[in-house]
Amino acid sequence: MPPASTDSRTALATELDAARHATHALLAPFDDEELQTQWSPLQSPLVWDLAHIGYFEDVWIGQRLGRLDPLLAEGDDLYDAFAHERAGRGELPLLDPAAARDYLERVRDRTLRTLEDAPLDGEDPLLRRGFVFGLVIQHERQHQETLLQTIQLSGVPHPGGAPQPVLSEGESKVDAGTYSVGTDDAPWAYDNERPAHTVELAAFAIDARPVTTVEFGAFVESGGYVDERLWSDEGRAWCAEENATAPLHWEDGTVTRFGRDEPLDPDEPVQHISFHEAEAYARWAGKRLPTELEWEVAARGGSLDGIGEVWEWTSSPFTGYPNFYAFPYPEYSEVFFGDEYRVLRGGSWASHPLVARPTFRNWDYPMRRQIFAGVRCARDL
Ligand SMILES: [Fe+2]
Repeated sequence: MPPASTDSRTALATELDAARHATHALLAPFDDEELQTQWSPLQSPLVWDLAHIGYFEDVWIGQRLGRLDPLLAEGDDLYDAFAHERAGRGELPLLDPAAARDYLERVRDRTLRTLEDAPLDGEDPLLRRGFVFGLVIQHERQHQETLLQTIQLSGVPHPGGAPQPVLSEGESKVDAGTYSVGTDDAPWAYDNERPAHTVELAAFAIDARPVTTVEFGAFVESGGYVDERLWSDEGRAWCAEENATAPLHWEDGTVTRFGRDEPLDPDEPVQHISFHEAEAYARWAGKRLPTELEWEVAARGGSLDGIGEVWEWTSSPFTGYPNFYAFPYPEYSEVFFGDEYRVLRGGSWASHPLVARPTFRNWDYPMRRQIFAGVRCARDL
């Protein structure tokens, strides 16, 4: 299933760009000679696939859609997949890697100009809902898999990959698409939750539950607070200033809770952590914080357990939604907009359910630890 949003011009341009970025990244470890080598009779030289990706794009977009002349006169002979067997493509007078990259760039310029004017909502089945752009994007994505087959056969060291489960245990997946966020009709919603609007999200995975004390304890014990790579510049400065070595109120396996010393419950969500600690933890776990809109989409889609146990830090600064207007007074939200604060979502055990609606936005300084805030991680898919 294509993402619901692929028929918008912006989404198509984003997908085109993402595909191209991935192609160049796949080939980045190779020098020119390696790119031009016929590693196996089973596969084309890598540089053939590279130029062929541009050729296919030019045939369908520049020539077919834009009615323009081919950008490469010898394209049909060199890069039409039916013109020559794979095993013999290394012998052809192919474009060298620099020329191939230049060709791809010139083709892409024409593609983007054609996309600007293409009537995507008309009757032409080639254009409807961006079909022909989808054809080109998918073609490039499929060739990336072909490139990986060649790369594997070449034996040249490469980051490569291996079979991986799409989701780890305890994660939920949210598909790429267009989603509604915010509200127009929750009767008591604050101005900062309004208006309802749509957002386009890339696919992501989000933890089904907030991070527990035993999980956070593993971060503490592995030296998470002293590993500088895990912290942002502001986070490092905060950590040094606070002398932080564990969440607030933690001490040797116990927690001081309202004047009582209690053993840490391994399964309860960690709380009293600052944004900086949340961010460092997520990095340590190989993940990241969700944006507040990712959080809201996942919450509204029923993907999150444990909402309302602890406030959850997000990576988002506190700002007004598009067409925000202050109501009934600017001092509730508007005066706090900017990048000084980070948004927290969900509500804590101490929040009344009345305010713990999925659109509710809390915000606080990134260094604050006294709030009942924890962390839930996300990652790109
Ligand atoms: Fe192809």
